Amino acid sequence: MSYAILSKEDLAERVHSVRVRAEGIARRARAGQFVILRLDERGERFPLTLCDWDSREGWIRLVFQVVGRSTAKLSRMEAGEEILDLVGPLGRPTEIDRFGHVVCVGGGVGIAAIYPICREMRRAGNRVTGIIGARTAGLLILEEEMTEVTDRLLVTTDDGSKGLSGRVTWALEQVLKEEGADLVMAIGPAVMMKFASAVTREFGVPTKVSLNSIMLDGTGMCGTCRCEVDGKTRFACVDGPEFDGHLVDWNLLLARLDQYLEEEEIARNMPL
Ligand code: NAD
Ligand code: FES
Repeated sequence: MSYAILSKEDLAERVHSVRVRAEGIARRARAGQFVILRLDERGERFPLTLCDWDSREGWIRLVFQVVGRSTAKLSRMEAGEEILDLVGPLGRPTEIDRFGHVVCVGGGVGIAAIYPICREMRRAGNRVTGIIGARTAGLLILEEEMTEVTDRLLVTTDDGSKGLSGRVTWALEQVLKEEGADLVMAIGPAVMMKFASAVTREFGVPTKVSLNSIMLDGTGMCGTCRCEVDGKTRFACVDGPEFDGHLVDWNLLLARLDQYLEEEEIARNMPL
């Protein structure tokens, strides 16, 4: 079975969105889950968090940033072309419940992953405050969609070119000072999730993060995605990807994310 790209959209520089026909995945998908793709026979396997899906129409939406060889290849594919393998939905879904005031923080491409979580948290009766941020206005994605699934949306840019000037963690601190929260969900670069968790720790607010570990099989067999949470080894693909941000060993995760930089650079420079 292969998976046809139904449409493709450029959201920002090096950030793209594809809608892919995947009936089985769309039927079972829940917020917080991800898929693993392999584009062709010679392709590597790489994970992408589900941004959206339609179980009746049988498609899923994936938003990705061009960072390496495979995402560069995917960015060059057009509607009508097919992805060879698509496995999912993988990972434990987000725990959706009636918590009260939920603050959902999305940094950069992480906004795509926080979007379905906001939607489901709101459907469950929570008051949802969204905080989304990018380095600059041109890199901000899904603002319209996020407005629809939040009660209040704060936008930040590091350079002040749109919304509040500063990082999402600064806006998070203001929200917690002003009105508190019952739960914070944060998705984005690991360093952002690390600092978001440091902010919420000060306020004593429970915090979930989605770990973007390097993954291979996605089924708990290879150990590539291992991380340390509460002093114990965990596999992000089957035990996560969401974990308590206050218990994650961030320095270990950050070091592991940088592990293959040299190899990635070599692969990036090879002809596609
Ligand atoms: P980026 O580096 O442009 O940062 C986006 C925003 O995050 C910034 O505007 C800022 O508000 C915040 N941020 C960044 N560094 C920070 C710091 N040190 N302290 C506080 N806030 C900080 O992000 P990008 O280039 O879009 O990178 C996307 C990252 O998100 C990738 O690393 C990707 O792996 C990750 N991601 C994770 C998931 C997931 O499910 N965990 C999903 C999608 C993307
Ligand atoms: Fe292999 Fe998680 S990706 S164990």
